[in-house]
Amino acid sequence: MMLIILKHVRNNIYRLRRSRNYSILSPVTKSPFTVLGIETSCDDTGVAIVNSDRQIISEAIHLQQQLHEPYGGVVPNLAMSSHQQHLPLVIREALDKANLDIARDIDVVAVTRGPGLPACLGNGLSAGKALAAALRKPLIGVHHMEAHALTARLTQPTPVPFPFLTLLISGGHTLILVAHGVNHYTQLGTTVDDSIGEAYDKISRLLKLPWLKGRGGGPGAALERVAEKGDPKKYKVPIPMTKDKHRKEAMDLSFSGLKTSISTLIKNNDLDLDDEIVKRDLASVFQKTAITHLTDKLELAFRWCREKDITLTALVVSGGVASNKSIRSSLESLATERYNIPLICPPPHLCTDNGVMVAWAGVERFRIGLVDEYIIDHLPRWPITTLGS
Ligand code: KG4
Ligand code: ZN
Repeated sequence: MMLIILKHVRNNIYRLRRSRNYSILSPVTKSPFTVLGIETSCDDTGVAIVNSDRQIISEAIHLQQQLHEPYGGVVPNLAMSSHQQHLPLVIREALDKANLDIARDIDVVAVTRGPGLPACLGNGLSAGKALAAALRKPLIGVHHMEAHALTARLTQPTPVPFPFLTLLISGGHTLILVAHGVNHYTQLGTTVDDSIGEAYDKISRLLKLPWLKGRGGGPGAALERVAEKGDPKKYKVPIPMTKDKHRKEAMDLSFSGLKTSISTLIKNNDLDLDDEIVKRDLASVFQKTAITHLTDKLELAFRWCREKDITLTALVVSGGVASNKSIRSSLESLATERYNIPLICPPPHLCTDNGVMVAWAGVERFRIGLVDEYIIDHLPRWPITTLGS
């Protein structure tokens, strides 16, 4: 296996040397090798240094919550200028914390290429490309959702083997995938409208909840906190996609109807949103229904894998919403009790966007010889299924 990988890397490097557009100018023969990762796809500026021995050497992050909270959500232009302002110093901080010299000690530069907010991606990608080119280091353009999925292979005592079922739940995506290997995913389901993160954020706004502050904070985390104290059975709302047989049997998801159901419930019952108990109960009802919808669809995905004779090693759940404790605990019961496989989630601070996930995805991709040209452009819309094609 090792031989195959080395051959792959060597062939790739040979190919790269012949093309002046490619980023690599001298092969990396070091073991372990060290990757600097840059994440700027949405509202957090994250940079980290990780090596191929699975060590997180350093991490730095600049959060933008204070900037966006007054507007009730991420404002792309503000996010972009904040990345522009802070990224240089976040890179510097990660290097200083690691006490590393970028020219001497960093072997590869990895940066989120997409999907995400165009101007924000552009910022990080330009910085990553410039660093890599100036320092004559290989460049890796990382798929943000692949990075969320692969983080679970870094944070466990031993890497989660492929294939695993993965649910990626973030502000921009809701994906059910089979991860067959690095760069190789089968998509079983995705949202047909809003992502689950968007739904959390919208309900949080509707209930006028102040954002939870600090790392792992924001509107979704605020809703989780309030929901913990509420009664999930207080009101009844329909579970998404259960009325129509065709939609019920599909592995796709939907969250916009749930948001409408909660709004209608408030209107029809003239509920007082200044009443803390009403807020708690509504948050709890929303969260319970969203979780039931997730577990319903994961059940179908588990069954699909069984029918296809795919022996899953784990259920991996990642992305910002995966830091939610209620979601984790419900999915843990599903995976362990019903399907006899472990639930694996990165620690909450590595579920929300960060530089570590990008650096680690860089490690995983570089190991199998996947490097990119200095001329790559950002890909704001980038289906994960196109990886490897
Ligand atoms: O992965 P992520 O950090 O950024 C994107 O790639 O979009 O996910 C951000 C999303 C936001 O919608 C945020 O409100 C939500 O994750 N989120 C949560 C929690 N923490 C973050 N949603 C529910 N419960 C949480 N504890
Ligand atoms: Zn994310």
